[in-house]
Parts: sequence; structure tokens; C-alpha cells
Amino acid sequence: MAKILLIDSGIGGISTLCQIRTILPNEEFIYFADKRFMPYGNKTSKQIKQRVTEICCYFLSKHNIKAIVIACNTATACGIEYLREHFKNIIIIGVEPAIKPAIKELSNGKALVLVTPNTALQPKFKQLNNQFFDKTIIAPMKNLAALIENNINDLKQIYPKVQNILTQYLGQNIKSVVLGCTHYCFIKDMISKFFNAKTYDGNIGTALRLDNLLKDINLINNSNGGSGIAFFQSLC
Ligand code: DGL
Repeated sequence: MAKILLIDSGIGGISTLCQIRTILPNEEFIYFADKRFMPYGNKTSKQIKQRVTEICCYFLSKHNIKAIVIACNTATACGIEYLREHFKNIIIIGVEPAIKPAIKELSNGKALVLVTPNTALQPKFKQLNNQFFDKTIIAPMKNLAALIENNINDLKQIYPKVQNILTQYLGQNIKSVVLGCTHYCFIKDMISKFFNAKTYDGNIGTALRLDNLLKDINLINNSNGGSGIAFFQSLC
């Protein structure tokens, strides 16, 4: 059975995978965590494009893959168009900060948009945010993804540190928070409580888009075999 490949710098994209599996329960997945190259958020766009292209080439040469999900806001902002150009005959979708849905539901105040430093610099991200610039506050988080990655087994212990980082945004009338990095989804309850605000992430949009694209070309697996996931990571 043809598989769906998900790529992130680490565990962040597992939040995307969970969302996709609720909509596409019978698919087979390959999840690749590029731990060795993490954090993508502090690399250049050129480095990320090159790296993700290599990863795609590797898995496409070894497996039967029908779609690639860039389960990473940073890599999506840096290189999704480039990847689509490079791999023309395969579905490639990414994850984007859910600014639109957050603003749609915002009646007053501001949406705080948490992203990696690299995402904040990308024209693709700026273009999206420019449509709502008077309603958003952009917060580039230098080491937050790595902090989550390295403490995934005991996230509570990083809460004081994260709260300390976020304190600068208190008192700025934050009514919603956009989780613009898939890693941040793992601390969404903490963030939501801290600001007393609703959080938004791009995973639902990505899962629905993937479902639609696969349906369009009749590539959904409907047989009820239960889905399998193969995990890979780069260590060296
Ligand atoms: N999970 C990635 C994202 O959504 C990036 C984390 C990193 O900086 O490596 O942006």
C-alpha cells in the first residue's frame, strides 16, 4: 500500500500525524524526525530546502509514497514551493500558522503568533501575516522547539521557563494564540491557560487538505486494516 510520508525536525510533526490519523484512519505512514539537523528554526532557508529535498529523495527511492506532508511550519515557509517544483508528480502539503481562523474568531484584542525565528523571516509567512498585521503580535521563539523536544517526557518541568519567556506578552490584550510551530502543540494547554486565550494550530487545515487531495485522485485507502506508522530519525 502506498504510504504518506511526514517530515519534521523532531517530534513536533507527531501532532500533525495524530490529526491526520483521525481523518484518514486506514492509511500507512512513515514519520521522519530530522533530529540531527534540529532546530530548523535557527537554520537558513537554503539549508532547510536542501536538507528536506535530500530527505524526500531518500524516502521516495526506498518506499512507495503517495503524499508528503511537511509537518513543520518552518520548512513549509522556507521551501514548500521549491519542493513542489522539484517533485512534480506527488502531493506535497505543509503546515501553516492558523492566523486566518484565529482572526476570524477574534472580536477584540490581539492574536499572539508564536513562530520560530526562521519562520518569522520568510516572505511566505510575512505575506500571510501582512493581511492581519494590525491584529497580530509576532513572537519569534528562539529555543522553544528544542526545549520541548528535549523535555518531551516531562514537559511540566519546562513550564516555569516557558512562562518566563512568554511573560513579556502579558498585558498586551492577547485574546488568542496561534501555535506557528508544530512543537508548540505539545504545550498548548499550558499556553492557553497562561493567556486565558484559545489556541489555534495548522494541523486540522493540513489534515483536511490532504484528505481532499487524496480523494480528488482516488488515492484514499478505505480498507479497514488499521493504520501503521514507521518512525525514523536521523542521529548522525
Ligand atoms: N516543528 C518545526 C515547526 O513547525 C520547527 C522546529 C525547529 O525549530 O526545528 O516550525
